[in-house]
Amino acid sequence: MAIPAQATGAAAARVDGRLKVTGAARYGSDANVVDPAHAFLVTSAIARGRIASIDEGPARAVPGVLDILSYRNVGQAIAPGKFFAAGGYVGSTIVPLGSPRVAHGGQIVAVVLADSFEAAREAAHRLKVSYAQEQPSAGFDSDGIEIVPAKQASKEHEDPGVGDAASAFAAAPVKIEAHYSTPTQHHNPIELFTTTCAWDGDKLMVWESSQNVHGIKNGLAQQLGIDPEQVRVISPYVGGAFGSRGSLTQRTAIIAVAAKRLNRPVKLVATRDQGFTIATYRAETRHRIKIGAGTDGRLQSLSHEGFEVTSRADPYMVSGTDASTRLYACPNVFSKVSIVHADRSTPGFMRSPPELPYLFPLESAIDELAVALRMDPIELRRVNDTKNEPINGLPYTSRSLMQCFDQAAEAFGWRRRNPEPGSMRDGDWAVGLGCASTMYPTAMAPATARVTLTPQGSVKVQTAAHEIGNGAYTVIAMTAAERLGLPLEKVSVELGDSDLPPAPVAGGSNTTASVCNVVAKACDEIRHKIIRAALRANDSPLAGKAEASLTFSEGVVKSPDGGSEPLPTAIRRVSNGAVEAYAENLPHGTSADGIEKLYKGMQDLAGGAKLKDRIQFAFGAEFVELHVHLRTREIRCPRVVGAFAAGRIMNAVTARSQLMGGMIWGVSSALHEETEMDERTARFTNTDLAEYMIPVHADIVSADVILVPEEDRLVNELGIKGLGELGNVGTNAAVANALFHATGVRVRDLPIRLEKLLAASAI
Ligand code: MOS
Repeated sequence: MAIPAQATGAAAARVDGRLKVTGAARYGSDANVVDPAHAFLVTSAIARGRIASIDEGPARAVPGVLDILSYRNVGQAIAPGKFFAAGGYVGSTIVPLGSPRVAHGGQIVAVVLADSFEAAREAAHRLKVSYAQEQPSAGFDSDGIEIVPAKQASKEHEDPGVGDAASAFAAAPVKIEAHYSTPTQHHNPIELFTTTCAWDGDKLMVWESSQNVHGIKNGLAQQLGIDPEQVRVISPYVGGAFGSRGSLTQRTAIIAVAAKRLNRPVKLVATRDQGFTIATYRAETRHRIKIGAGTDGRLQSLSHEGFEVTSRADPYMVSGTDASTRLYACPNVFSKVSIVHADRSTPGFMRSPPELPYLFPLESAIDELAVALRMDPIELRRVNDTKNEPINGLPYTSRSLMQCFDQAAEAFGWRRRNPEPGSMRDGDWAVGLGCASTMYPTAMAPATARVTLTPQGSVKVQTAAHEIGNGAYTVIAMTAAERLGLPLEKVSVELGDSDLPPAPVAGGSNTTASVCNVVAKACDEIRHKIIRAALRANDSPLAGKAEASLTFSEGVVKSPDGGSEPLPTAIRRVSNGAVEAYAENLPHGTSADGIEKLYKGMQDLAGGAKLKDRIQFAFGAEFVELHVHLRTREIRCPRVVGAFAAGRIMNAVTARSQLMGGMIWGVSSALHEETEMDERTARFTNTDLAEYMIPVHADIVSADVILVPEEDRLVNELGIKGLGELGNVGTNAAVANALFHATGVRVRDLPIRLEKLLAASAI
């Protein structure tokens, strides 16, 4: 069936907007259970050692306390799970309440269950846990860390490389060599980390806001030793996720066990502070970049070495060299990623792994090269633009990087920039204009969907994809409306329930590409059924027409050479009730048993730089204006402009909002965010929204998004690349580059805060 024309112009307000602003949307935290017991977590006060004793007396004495769970009574009840990156489900292989060992600060060591939240909280504070403490290793600079090459830690990992980077660097006329770092950061979604479990016989219901309901269903079944069909996970709305709800964490199995023991529903609401250690986070990274270039700006050698902190237990890594080594043409490339095991909780996905921490150093170094060459940074990128990635020479399915630069530069007013650092002023403020590239891989996963069309012309779409603020309800409804020629209001969409046909994790910006394609397929199956019935019917004005020529539009089936039939009439030829279709989609590069794996909640994301025969990325260009006060060094960011090309844009409204949100978060992580750690105790210190710095409205004056039209027929049938994380990746470097332009000071360690400029003499 013909693919509809490029639809960058399509735009619709969120179909779930009214439900959200009126409070009618039910989030994971809004589980409607009768008379639940309340759980309160007790988390470890040390980062390494073991629990020496637990005195439950004072806690048990609090009226309303029902039970106290710890390793002493849970122990073997929860089976060990395999790490998700090794084909399992869990985000950390530390068994929940499995032993007296303490592996990181803030680990769940006990759970108090009571009739009320207040009683559970009070008793939790009265529980006396004593520890035998050992000296923890906090991070990169601590004694006792273990450094392991990523290649050794994971069979999946490759260090991309080509040619002889060392010799080419030595011979290059212009050289840049520098170290960069990014800090620990936390997602802090506004909806707290909550879980509610209720058993009905041997059936377990779980309400938990999630990016992966099938992953939780299957992983939890494995932990509890039950059949996955006994578990149902419900998460129709998610109050912020950003990766933090992408993997199965410790609390879910614990609350399931608690509900079983009490024979009563149990509801957990973890505190903001606990969220810093019971969920995942972005761990700090360090980088060494070496670039050798000719005097014409062409790269001759690129070397990117990255180091990432992880836990003792798990080899979590983002290893973004897959992207950073492929952004520009370069004949000699070296890369190596190493992980550093410390006494930390296992990190995890945080918008936007893996590119975000790896493009900051690369795109800063490219700016440093432009300064060394006295070359315009956009022209430097143009000189090194390429249609083929440099490692294996594979062609990009499409790449509109320079179109993005040209459109963003025009909108931003790059022409007024005086290239001399520290040369632009606005009263008492130094003004800086900076830019950087952004890129994000187009990932796709196997997906399934069921579509039902009634004779009244109402459509129901069912798939266990996730609405995490990404606009999934809206783009899925738009896809069905367009395919079936019906108004958007006639489409209802059901998501976020593991009883629905499985869909992949909402991660790696894959939802729109994976799910809209399979929904389109199911709609096409319905069209086929209806059209075939009409063609065969003697009393239809469409009888005998060419099948491929018939269109569905405004509730009417039409033939181009005249002849039409209202949809309800056509539908009744197929069925007295509704017409239903179930579709599966196995995207290019995914394995043949991808659908089977999907049902088992295992992710089979393919794409980006991992395909054997081609390479697929979305690209963009981001521009930042920064003002630095000449005396106080106060930093303000009045303007961000980004232009992005991500294939077909399904909904310009939600796409713009995703990209804008990404850039705003990029400014935030460049200028504000850092989770600080007490190096002596390996515990986080600023674990609340008062001390974890984020921007407010007054900090983000203007953020503009330009959608650059791009058609890509290779990535998938609908030509969707996905853009949930694209806007976020380039901003850090654009901010740092603008700061250098304003002040002549190069800050290579994020976040860029006022104190890092106090000693600077350049301004
Ligand atoms: Mo996203 S960090 O891949 O949920």
